[in-house]
Amino acid sequence: MNAVGVARPRIEGPAKVTGAARYAADVPIEGLAFGAAVLSTVSRGRIRDIDISAVQDMPGVLGVLDHRNAPRLNPKAGGFFGPDGQLQLLQDEVIPFAGRPVALVVAETLEQAQAAAEALLVTYDEEPHDTEFSADHPAGRPAITLFDGPVDVGDVEAELAASAMIVEERYRTPEEHHSAMEPHSATAWWEGDRLEAIDSNQGPFTIAAALATLFSLPLDRVHIRTEHVGGGFGSKGLCGPQLILATMGALRFQRPVRVTLTRSQVFLSTAMRPATDQLIRIGAEADGKLRAIWHEPAFEISPLAEYIEGCTELTKTLYAAPAIRTGLTAVPLDILPPYSMRGPGAAPGSFALECAMDELAERLGMDPLELRLRNEPSVGPVSGLPFSSRNLVACLREGARRFGWNTRDHRPRLRREGPLLVGTGLAATSFSVGAFPSSASISAEPDGTFTVAIGATDLGTGARTALTAVAADALMVDTERIRLQISDSALGPAWSAGGSRGTTSWVWAIIEAGTKMREQGCSGTVTVDTTQLLGDLASMERHAFSAVFAEVTVDPATGEVRVRRLLGMYAIGRVVNPLMARSQVIGGLIGGLSMALHEEGIRDRVSGRHVNADFAGYHIAAHADVPDIEADFVSDYEPGIPMGVKGAGEIGNVGTAAAIANAVWHATGTRQRSLPIRLDRVLEE
Ligand code: MOS
Repeated sequence: MNAVGVARPRIEGPAKVTGAARYAADVPIEGLAFGAAVLSTVSRGRIRDIDISAVQDMPGVLGVLDHRNAPRLNPKAGGFFGPDGQLQLLQDEVIPFAGRPVALVVAETLEQAQAAAEALLVTYDEEPHDTEFSADHPAGRPAITLFDGPVDVGDVEAELAASAMIVEERYRTPEEHHSAMEPHSATAWWEGDRLEAIDSNQGPFTIAAALATLFSLPLDRVHIRTEHVGGGFGSKGLCGPQLILATMGALRFQRPVRVTLTRSQVFLSTAMRPATDQLIRIGAEADGKLRAIWHEPAFEISPLAEYIEGCTELTKTLYAAPAIRTGLTAVPLDILPPYSMRGPGAAPGSFALECAMDELAERLGMDPLELRLRNEPSVGPVSGLPFSSRNLVACLREGARRFGWNTRDHRPRLRREGPLLVGTGLAATSFSVGAFPSSASISAEPDGTFTVAIGATDLGTGARTALTAVAADALMVDTERIRLQISDSALGPAWSAGGSRGTTSWVWAIIEAGTKMREQGCSGTVTVDTTQLLGDLASMERHAFSAVFAEVTVDPATGEVRVRRLLGMYAIGRVVNPLMARSQVIGGLIGGLSMALHEEGIRDRVSGRHVNADFAGYHIAAHADVPDIEADFVSDYEPGIPMGVKGAGEIGNVGTAAAIANAVWHATGTRQRSLPIRLDRVLEE
C-alpha cells in the first residue's frame, strides 16, 4: 500500500474548475453587510478629523468605524515575531505609514460601502516621514535573533588578507509584494457569544489564537474557517486587516460583515518583502578553495512590528570556509511592516551569495559549477553539526547533465543569435527544514472509512491531496477510505502553511495518529499532539537543497532580458506527490523569474507613498514571460521526520534570481547587482 510517492491530481480540482469551490469572499451568508476600508494617504502624522457627515446619509450606509468608536484591542496581541502593532487598527489618531487603515465604512452592499468609503473626508496633520532605505541609515540597529542570528567563526579579516582572490560587492533587492491571486477577504459574525469567521489565511488555528487575544476572547469562542485559499506567499500568515476590521464591524453592527481588500489595498495594507542592501566579501585561494565569507545584509522594518529577513541562512550552510561572519541590520522606517514572503531571507540572500560566487568564479577563470563542488562541506560550516542529508552535489551534477552545462564556454559575451546575446548561469541553494507542533485526530467510521482531522490549510498547493495520501499510508488503506478534514480552527492546534513547514508538521501528526489507530485495532478515535516528539528531534543541519540553471537572451538595443530556459533540480526529502511538488517548485521558479526581471515596489520620495500599488504598475511574470521551464527531484530522505519529507513550499523561489543574473552577465559581460534587472539597468551598462 503506497499512496505516497504517486503522482495524483488534486482532489479539489473538479470543484475548482467548475466553480463549485468557494473562496472566502464567495460564501453566501444571510443578512450580510459589507465593509470598505479607508486607508491613510500620508506616511506619518495624525488624523485631524474624520468627517462622516457626507457619508452617513448615503444610500445603504450603516455607519463608520474609526479610532473614536472602534472596539478597544489588546496591545499584547501578535504573531510569530512577537507583539504586533500592525494589528492595532483604529485605536488612535497616529499614522505610522501610508496605507494604514483609518476607517471602515459599513453598508448594505459592496458598491454602497465602496462609494461611501471614497466620499469619506479624512484630514491629517502631517509630520515629516522617512521612507528612504539605505544600509548606512543612522537608525539601523542589529536585527532581533529569533533565527538567523549573527555568527563569527574563524578569523575573517586574516583569511581575507591571506586570500589570493577577493570579491567585495553590494547587492540590492527592492520592496516586493506577495500578490496572491485571491485578495484578502474575511466575513465575521456572532453566534451567541461565539465569534464565527471565514477568512483567507494560511493557518486558521494560529490566526484564531491571534484574533482571540486581540479581542480579549477565550480561544474556544473564536471559530475560523479557511476552506479554499488562492495563494498567500506569507502575506496571509498574519491576522490580516480584513479579519480585524470585519470582526469590529460584526461587533458594532451585530450582523455578518464582509471586508474584502481591493488589489491596491492588498499592496498598501497587508505585507511586503523588505528592501535589502547586502555587502558581501568572499576570499579564496587560486584553486577556488574558500577562505572566508563575510555577509552583512541590511533590510528595512517598521517600528510597529519586529521582523527578520534572514538573508544569511545560506551563507552558514552552503560552502565550507574556515572563516564565516554574518550580521543582519534592521532599519526602522515609516513603511508598511514587512513580513515573510516567498522564501523569506533565502530568496534575497541567495541573490547576493550566489552572484558573488559567480563573480569569484569569473575572476578565478573557473567553471562556477566546479567552484561549488570544491567547497562542499562535510559538516555544517558554522555549527560543525552533521547534515541530516545533503544532496546538493547530486542536484548540481544532474542539473548540469540535463541542462547541457558541460559544453558551456565560461567566458562572457561569446554567444550570439542574430541581434541577441545569449548566456547561461546557475545557482546553488538551500532552505532550512523543520516541523512545528501540531495535533491530529482520526476516527474509525462504521462504513469502514476514517475521518482524519487536522487544522491544516491548502493554499492551492495540493495539501489536501498530499495529506490524504499520507493518511492512507499511515492507516494502510486505500485513499478512498480517507475523509480528510482541514481548514478549520476547531480541529485543534496545528502549524500554518508557512515556513515550508506545513507538510512536515502535519505529516508528523497524521502518522503518529495513524500508528496509534492501528495499534488500537482501527476502531474508535485517537487524538495526538506532536509537541513532545518534536522536542526530541536531534540537533542537526537539516536543509532542502537545489540547483537552478537559466538561459537568457539579452537584446543590446533595448535592454530586454528574456529567460529562455529554466531548470531546477531539487532535494526535498521524500516527494509525497511528484505532480503537486513539481507544480509547487515550478511556481517558485516563476516567482524567482518575476523577482529577477519585474517585481519592484516604488515609492514617491516626497509623499513616501507607493506609486505602483496595482498590477498595471507592479509587474509580475505573465505566461508570455514563462518559457521552457522544468523541475525534477533527486533521490533524498530526511531521517529525522516521519516518511522522510523535508518540505517544498519555498525553495523553488530561492536561487532563481541569481541564476538569471549570472546568465545575464554571461550574455553581456556586465554584472547586474540590483534587482529587478530592468531594461534601463541593462542599457546603462
Ligand atoms: Mo511563507 S513566506 O512562510 O508563506
